[in-house]
Amino acid sequence: MKIAIVGCGNMGMAFAKSFLQYDLVKKDDLLLIEKSTDRSEALKAEKAGVVVDTIGPHVGETDLIILSVKPQDFNSVHEALRDIVQPNQVILSIMAGIPIAQIQKKLGHPLVVRAMPNTPAMLGMGITGFTAAKEVDMTNLRRIENLINATGRSIFLEDEAMLDAVTALSGSGPAYFYYVVKAMIEAGKQMGFDDSVSALLVKQTMLGAYHLINNADKSLDELIKAVASKGGTTEAALHEFENGGLSDTLVAGIKAAQVRATELSKG
Ligand SMILES: NC(=O)c1ccc[n+]([C@@H]2O[C@H](COP(=O)([O-])OP(=O)(O)OC[C@H]3O[C@@H](n4cnc5c(N)ncnc54)[C@H](OP(=O)(O)O)[C@@H]3O)[C@@H](O)[C@H]2O)c1
Repeated sequence: MKIAIVGCGNMGMAFAKSFLQYDLVKKDDLLLIEKSTDRSEALKAEKAGVVVDTIGPHVGETDLIILSVKPQDFNSVHEALRDIVQPNQVILSIMAGIPIAQIQKKLGHPLVVRAMPNTPAMLGMGITGFTAAKEVDMTNLRRIENLINATGRSIFLEDEAMLDAVTALSGSGPAYFYYVVKAMIEAGKQMGFDDSVSALLVKQTMLGAYHLINNADKSLDELIKAVASKGGTTEAALHEFENGGLSDTLVAGIKAAQVRATELSKG
């Protein structure tokens, strides 16, 4: 399989490196198109694939074209791609907020898959929601699913509108956890730990809690109950969280992200 990646920043390279790691593509068959000179020089030095700085006819010789530029750069990209894309090529867009219909129209090409990954894809620990135009057949869909799964896990969504919810929940999600972790580290510092000790206590707690969520045969409420004894320390903290409306604020924040994702999709 030959793959072109247009825009080799954080996400484009997370995909490229995962494909290479699992031998899903050979370096000679991986065309990396990167506009930024600094980035393309670094990619050439790394020998990450065949690196070029502009979209040219060679892009039309691949099986799959991944669009991983920022959404605002799609305007210049579609003009360059429109006359190059071949009828059998599949487009995989990971650009936030650009609907399949718009990509199809601007490229004059029906075979479009749209995905929303998140940054842990850089470590092969991402989660990606994806959906596809009805013109994309099962063989192509399976191929793309296999590729996406090299970056972590994936969920296929029938309804494209739900990609806005994926954007709000898992696309933006890492930032929510960083936010909570940052606040917890700050609490540790205010109680007298230095930065690194506080960070160790918090990060290892997060890791342990993640594994208990996945491995203990308990609901989240039961897990909370197992830590929060009546009249104890955890209960004091949870009381304060509830008084401050923390849970409701988190839900409201995530819904605001969904509203914003929908606004952006509508242009
Ligand atoms: N980061 C996330 O958490 C996340 C999650 C899900 C989806 N996404 C989506 O993934 C896409 C990429 O995000 P990112 O964080 O990887 O952005 P990024 O690091 O800025 O990477 C985009 C790269 O594309 C290059 N580029 C721009 N126009 C180009 C062109 N015409 N041809 C070739 N290369 C071009 C940019 O170069 P310049 O810097 O010189 O412009 C930049 O190096 C975005 O559409 C975003 O919505 C991101």
